Amino acid sequence: MSRCILKTEGIRKNFGGVVAVKDFSFEIDEGQIIAIIGPNGAGKTTIFNLVSKIYELDAGKISLCGADITKKSQIEVARMGISRTFQNARLFTGLSVLDNVRVALDFAGKYSLIEAMLLLPRRWKTERETTRRAMDCLELLNLDRYAGQRPANLPYGIQRRVEIARALVSNPKVLMLDEPAAGLNPEELFQLMDFLREIRAKYPQLAMLIIEHRMDLVMSISDYIYVQDFGETIAQGVACEIQNDPLVLKAYLGEEE
Ligand SMILES: Nc1ncnc2c1ncn2[C@@H]1O[C@H](COP(=O)(O)OP(=O)(O)O)[C@@H](O)[C@H]1O
Ligand SMILES: [Mg+2]
Repeated sequence: MSRCILKTEGIRKNFGGVVAVKDFSFEIDEGQIIAIIGPNGAGKTTIFNLVSKIYELDAGKISLCGADITKKSQIEVARMGISRTFQNARLFTGLSVLDNVRVALDFAGKYSLIEAMLLLPRRWKTERETTRRAMDCLELLNLDRYAGQRPANLPYGIQRRVEIARALVSNPKVLMLDEPAAGLNPEELFQLMDFLREIRAKYPQLAMLIIEHRMDLVMSISDYIYVQDFGETIAQGVACEIQNDPLVLKAYLGEEE
């Protein structure tokens, strides 16, 4: 039996009069890929912001591997293994691909500032260690040939993959991707889907949560899908169950690009 990794129970977020997320409950098991789809403004990104503790919840509960993390901070949940990317690419343009991935390991560094000054060799060792881990991750994901390059000089599809590598390097339990396919051309999109399948094969225990605006994109890779509209779950199930759901089709009428 698979182990439940992440679970939300009735999480809610209001912004003034707008209920961005209304009592959202879901769970994801080890090794599962779950998609959250829905039109713009449905509350998908807000769900990620609640789970990664960027926003405080107005109600509900979040647990990670059975432990209540509702009251934990953004840094704590990151350390506990919840990692994410953002809807708009956020790589550091001034850093190489390798350093972009390395920075994600920085907060996990074992040395304090004073130690860093007193124990330079140890710091140096840690830095070699983070470099090695970052490089291993890039190699595993076939991105090592870009290690020395600046993200701005790379095609957008590669930049998005580097972002995912950066989120993966700390070996999270849960990887949350906010519209990883946004802005990709059809070929890049195809490559991204392959990339996600590759990640699944190489990180078999990882739970992956993917936000997508367009329904067709996630059909083939998701084990289970939640459909959000105006903050509420209007349908959930496996792809073939929701594909022809009248409520889902209605939510998307006039929405499809
Ligand atoms: N920080 C915020 N302040 C005020 N309103 C917000 C904020 N973030 C999101 N919203 C509102 O919450 C709703 C859901 O937004 P969002 O979660 O970004 O939707 P999605 O990602 O599905 O497009 C929208 O009405 C949006 O305007
Ligand atoms: Mg969004």
